[in-house]
Amino acid sequence: MQETELKIRTVGDPVLRRKAKKVGRVTPAHRQILSRMARLMYEASGIGLAAPQVGIDEQMIVVDIGKGLYKLVNPRIVRREGRQAIDEGCLSCPGVSVRVPRARKIVVESLDDEGKEITFEAQDLLACVLQHEIDHLLGKLIVDYAPLWKRLTMKKKLREKRNL
Ligand code: NI
Repeated sequence: MQETELKIRTVGDPVLRRKAKKVGRVTPAHRQILSRMARLMYEASGIGLAAPQVGIDEQMIVVDIGKGLYKLVNPRIVRREGRQAIDEGCLSCPGVSVRVPRARKIVVESLDDEGKEITFEAQDLLACVLQHEIDHLLGKLIVDYAPLWKRLTMKKKLREKRNL
């Protein structure tokens, strides 16, 4: 397989706005992409990365908040409980942080990178990051949660950054 370089896409790239497709069967190609996504996430000092952020519109995410790496395929949230909101950043929205309302505790159903079905509970920061990454699979970004005035300022800032 040709190893094309994966690059992190930033806001304005249409792939970030597409709904990612469900993976039919987890193949070695998917495993390879997940590993490369994890590498990229660590290189960028991120704690989560979704496939659309590297230009791939399939439902895959990687998360590591410092307590172990999750490689998830077709993840979905089947239960939400409680509330939390922290200032979130995103590798695709450089220089931007938005306080996003999230559930404090969630239950996730997913496939692992071997295609095995798994169900697990997550809370606090891990739950937050999982919700953030699953949002990416729906074409949703943190900027969508910002109030209008902040969205306008951010748009301007991001545009200036691109033009540098
Ligand atoms: Ni993000």
